[in-house]
Amino acid sequence: MRRLHLTDRHLRVMLWCILLGLQPAFGGILDPFNWARSDRIEVNIPWLPFENETRCYDELGCLNITRSWYHLIHRPFNVFPLPRVVINTRFILYTKKNPTDGQLLNVNVNKTIVKSNFDPQKPTKMIVHGFIDTPLSNWVSEMKDELVKAGDFNVVIVDWAGGSLPLYTQATANTRLVGLEIAHFINTLEKDHGLNPQDVHIIGHSLGAHTAGYAGERIQGLGRITGLDPAEPYFQGMPTHIRLDPTDAQLVDVIHTDGKSIFLLDFVFMAGYGMSQPVGHLDFYPNNGKEQPGCDLTEGPLVPLTLVKQGLEEASRVLVACNHVRAIKLFTESINGKCAYIGHQCPSYQHFLAGKCFHCGHGCAVMGFHADSTPGLVANRDNLTENEVYPSEEHETIGAKYFLSTGKEQPFCQRHYRVTIQLANPKGAESWVQGFLKVALLSDRGVIRGMDLTPNNYVKLEHGSTYTIVVTHPMDMGGKVRKVELSWEYDMNVLEPRSLCILWCNDRLYVKSVIVDQMELPSRGKRNVDFSSKLCTLKREFAEIPNRGSASFYDNCGR
Ligand SMILES: *[C@@H]1O[C@H](CO)[C@@H](O)[C@H](O)[C@H]1NC(C)=O
Ligand SMILES: *[C@@H]1O[C@H](CO)[C@@H](O)[C@H](O)[C@H]1NC(C)=O
Ligand SMILES: *[C@@H]1O[C@H](CO)[C@@H](O)[C@H](O)[C@H]1NC(C)=O
Ligand SMILES: *[C@@H]1O[C@H](CO)[C@@H](O)[C@H](O)[C@H]1NC(C)=O
Repeated sequence: MRRLHLTDRHLRVMLWCILLGLQPAFGGILDPFNWARSDRIEVNIPWLPFENETRCYDELGCLNITRSWYHLIHRPFNVFPLPRVVINTRFILYTKKNPTDGQLLNVNVNKTIVKSNFDPQKPTKMIVHGFIDTPLSNWVSEMKDELVKAGDFNVVIVDWAGGSLPLYTQATANTRLVGLEIAHFINTLEKDHGLNPQDVHIIGHSLGAHTAGYAGERIQGLGRITGLDPAEPYFQGMPTHIRLDPTDAQLVDVIHTDGKSIFLLDFVFMAGYGMSQPVGHLDFYPNNGKEQPGCDLTEGPLVPLTLVKQGLEEASRVLVACNHVRAIKLFTESINGKCAYIGHQCPSYQHFLAGKCFHCGHGCAVMGFHADSTPGLVANRDNLTENEVYPSEEHETIGAKYFLSTGKEQPFCQRHYRVTIQLANPKGAESWVQGFLKVALLSDRGVIRGMDLTPNNYVKLEHGSTYTIVVTHPMDMGGKVRKVELSWEYDMNVLEPRSLCILWCNDRLYVKSVIVDQMELPSRGKRNVDFSSKLCTLKREFAEIPNRGSASFYDNCGR
């Protein structure tokens, strides 16, 4: 009887595997974004593998699989984690006293804690890696080094390499057990050694971000979770107890860098590992959170070169998962970097680029390590109700998105400038012209040359209107811009006959003035410093810029 039952179960598991195998076929037809938005689909299958089963793991507690863990599209398959001894979660401590030689911490063995450099009075930073990853990855030690440098922290690397290998379905299940291990680690340190969970900050990449979420679910008053491009497959569109969400810690800040939605199966390397859905209190979308500058395979170094230099593993990480790894790079740079990553709440990245959300009045926040020091955020947290500062649980699907732009290589953090060009419409000007614009900016701090105001393509400029764009540059102009030199090149588009401008038309651009704003983080208590400069031509009401010519503007508009 029992044997028969087992065989029966295996048959059903096989059926599910076949269903799973069919998933890519569905993927081509169904727009995953629509599925993510739509309500959960009721799975009308009478029997689901492991439904209503519970497994317990000694002192760690129990895990169950209920129907809510299944979703026909997002999460068709669930399994239980591999045994504890196989995943073999380890906690390795680094501090200023031992920045390079890690100490293995085992909370069940008192002396590994008391004999280590672990100090429960100091803040604890934990790093959790993701799928097909290990603590041996370069980024883990880079981030650890920056953290050790940044402050007197207990930096703990969580090693779950025993459970992070394919299949993806198994690895996602393993993260639940790793979450229990982390919760047990922190809860025991609280009970036996006086650690305050509020001082603990877990930083997780990809699957590691959800792992941190599972840990946070079982820790009272965990201080903070930073999710670095949380993994999308099996999590996006799922209920909050399955993925990272704002209830998992007092502050959940998330950096999304690879949100191009895809259907991913085990072993399949494809673009788009990260979630696009906001899942924290602060969700940052650098460069729109989908594709990162410098991650275009065609412009990077040749594959074989990278392969030779850094090995296959690193090459695949850099080339195939460049967008996915960028969240890590941005966070690591933010730890000791001097430049502040300022994210702005905005309806969309297009609005942001058009300069519509340039002031912090719309809401802004610091991305990265210093997210908790966003002016107003920490102080306000004590006397504002939760949904005034952070989107509350029921608002979370429409959670605010914070946008910013970055460079394509280190240093990624750059200054944002908003350039507004006020066009004149004198007699003789065409009603519109199209082409390319570049500026040079000059302030007391120095000069920026060749700043491209039409980075994507030519723009159509209507005389009499204004053109606004937000661009970034590594250099800090430090306030007032004294002079602007604007260069204009008319674009003749043979495909658009109206833009052909040969004999009877005027290819000149007529510009009244240029306004340059520099983005600043308002400091609390102080009045906002005015970093806006308006620049005009010296003699006339407007400048007449010929094709391939340029004109200068000065901060003398009042005179
Ligand atoms: C699992 O539990 C739910 C709720 O108790 C119940 O409706 C469902 O039928 C159960 N499923 C199985 C397979 O026992
Ligand atoms: C499953 O586990 C969760 C979290 O521990 C618990 O809240 C829930 O009651 C459990 N459900 C069942 C059916 O055992
Ligand atoms: C751990 O060891 C220290 C020093 O030997 C001792 O003071 C402390 O009570 C021990 N804690 C536990 C939970 O055994
Ligand atoms: C928060 O509380 C402090 C002290 O009670 C008060 O000065 C401050 O204005 C409050 N902030 C807000 C935003 O209410």
